[in-house]
Amino acid sequence: MSDSKPVNIIGDDVKKDFSNAEIVKRYVQYRPSPPSSIISTVLHFLTQQQQQQQHGQQQHEHEVKDIKGEEGSSLCVDVGCGSGQNTHLYADHFKHVVGVDVSVDQLDAARVTNTRTNVSYRQGRGEDLPLQDESVDLVTCSSSLHWFNIPAFFNEVKRVLRPGGVLACYWYRLPECHYGSHSFNDVVEEVWESWREYWPPCHQFIMKDDVHLPHLYPDQVTVRLSEKKFVLERACSLDDFVGFLHSTAVFQNLELDKGTQQAQHSLQALRQRLVSKMGRGNETDKVILKYYYALRMWRKPSH
Ligand SMILES: C[S@@+](CC[C@H](N)C(=O)[O-])C[C@H]1O[C@@H](n2cnc3c(N)ncnc32)[C@H](O)[C@@H]1O
Repeated sequence: MSDSKPVNIIGDDVKKDFSNAEIVKRYVQYRPSPPSSIISTVLHFLTQQQQQQQHGQQQHEHEVKDIKGEEGSSLCVDVGCGSGQNTHLYADHFKHVVGVDVSVDQLDAARVTNTRTNVSYRQGRGEDLPLQDESVDLVTCSSSLHWFNIPAFFNEVKRVLRPGGVLACYWYRLPECHYGSHSFNDVVEEVWESWREYWPPCHQFIMKDDVHLPHLYPDQVTVRLSEKKFVLERACSLDDFVGFLHSTAVFQNLELDKGTQQAQHSLQALRQRLVSKMGRGNETDKVILKYYYALRMWRKPSH
């Protein structure tokens, strides 16, 4: 993260094997939902301008208005929704929320866990969205933008957003892991670095601080990872943390190359190193994971 060399991920040829029942299971179990601070920041950016247009006045900075009750039907679309970790968080704020993903297996899992009647799921690609022109108020990408062909996706965003609509993309890096006053970060980073040859090219995107993206709209917001403005903290077991690592594309690539047994051995070796760092602690004790998020948002001009 400290490396400030710009990353340009456009045109990366990435492996996208998210359609495997085992991987979907790991996603459902171990992948986090974004923190509420991100959702409220996105909604504030979206509603701020709508309020100004409707009432000709500035909205209070921390006030987040739903747009559900406003004229017409409000629509939020979550692209690369996976098993719905982010999608449902918008259900209270829009009339309709649609999750879009290429993977049928991920969508099936999202439908099973969905409890909201105004949330639905559709198969589709970010580069060819199954949506009408100028029909969407908010497009979100939660840890998914780096998997898309970004210029093609941005063209689709320009097509489907209503005037004044917003694209909000956010993602997290490998989480920090703490146990009481002990930090496990050095060990985790060392192992992650040793797996560098298995990082998909687009993985650079989420590991670095300075991400270069094509121009979309001039009205935009950037919050870098290094600002540490958005954090999700989770207390979980060491096995949950290992489960999260197990769910990553990096581990999938390691498993493809080395075979399941050897890949599992690497993961268990990491777990064992962390257990020995717990000192007198018990390996069933909770550890604290901190996921820091970056955010990029753009607003389509109103006229
Ligand atoms: C890292 S997961 C993120 C899942 C979820 N949004 C989250 O917050 O954890 C990336 C998702 O993007 C989907 N994906 C990859 N390429 C895609 C594309 N071109 N169009 C739509 N979805 C895509 C994958 O199937 C996967 O479910």
